[in-house]
Amino acid sequence: MDYYKNYAVKYGRPVADAVADRYGDADSLVRSGNPIIDHMLMHRSIRRFTSDPVAEGDVRTAIAAAQSAATSSNLQSWSVIKVSDPSHKQEVNRLCGNQGQIDDAPLMLVWLADQSRNYAIGEAYDTQLEAFDYLESTMLGMVDTCIAAQNAALAFEALGYGTCFIGAVRNNAEALAALLQLPARCVPVIGLAVGRPHPRHDSDIKPRLSQDIVVHDEVYRVAEGQEITAYDRVMTEFQGKQGMAPHGWSGAVAVRLGTRSALHGRDRYMEFLRVAYMGTR
Ligand SMILES: Cc1cc2nc3c(=O)[nH]c(=O)nc-3n(C[C@H](O)[C@H](O)[C@H](O)COP(=O)(O)O)c2cc1C
Repeated sequence: MDYYKNYAVKYGRPVADAVADRYGDADSLVRSGNPIIDHMLMHRSIRRFTSDPVAEGDVRTAIAAAQSAATSSNLQSWSVIKVSDPSHKQEVNRLCGNQGQIDDAPLMLVWLADQSRNYAIGEAYDTQLEAFDYLESTMLGMVDTCIAAQNAALAFEALGYGTCFIGAVRNNAEALAALLQLPARCVPVIGLAVGRPHPRHDSDIKPRLSQDIVVHDEVYRVAEGQEITAYDRVMTEFQGKQGMAPHGWSGAVAVRLGTRSALHGRDRYMEFLRVAYMGTR
């Protein structure tokens, strides 16, 4: 079933109601009806897939969408590795904490901040490559990579696939870089599991913070505690409907940010970057 149609069929409501699900309340100022925007409003991470493969033409289409994204100074500082061979995917997944959605997905894309090509060009032109001494080169690659990956995710969704981003590619970045035979100055930033959504395990639209909290007029306004509490209530209700532990949102934030162990190895990522991306000159 198509990702787009599935929403209308499952909920028996117009797509516009996706906005109400997103905020826990209707917002008449948000306009739907545009197919691109409607797809964005209906986004939900999908973690259960059918065994249908992802068609090669669909992958090429999604990558064309990714490459159509803006890119800093047209440097195009990213690459992506397609992982679909089951035993290879299993090895990748082992380094990502053995997540069920990676196991289930016929395709796992590993998005890479990749300055290896541009560094070689800088060497061929006999430049000092001084930009590589600064965090900016790293940030530039990471930002471009994420913008491209999001374009691909939207394209896959438009083609009826479901996706789940996988930050866990940074859990064991050094080992993953070795497994994928990455050159120097080319590092994993984000993964994307892709497949046809399993019709019996579709996800629901997850509510977000109110726009009043994340959008600021002219200058920054610190959110009141009660505004966060209101979102906690929306999330608690959502979690209850999903059969999840009804912990709300702020409690989950505290757990996620509270301890080094919750990083599952990503605490070593900075050190990895120093060696693999920045400090190899
Ligand atoms: C950068 C990034 C990394 C993520 N990493 C993971 C992951 O490793 N495993 C996972 O199950 N979901 C992962 N997600 C999905 C988020 O959990 C999900 O987007 C969030 O809970 C909101 O839910 P929604 O996408 O369904 O709206 C990631 C999302 C992003 C943007």
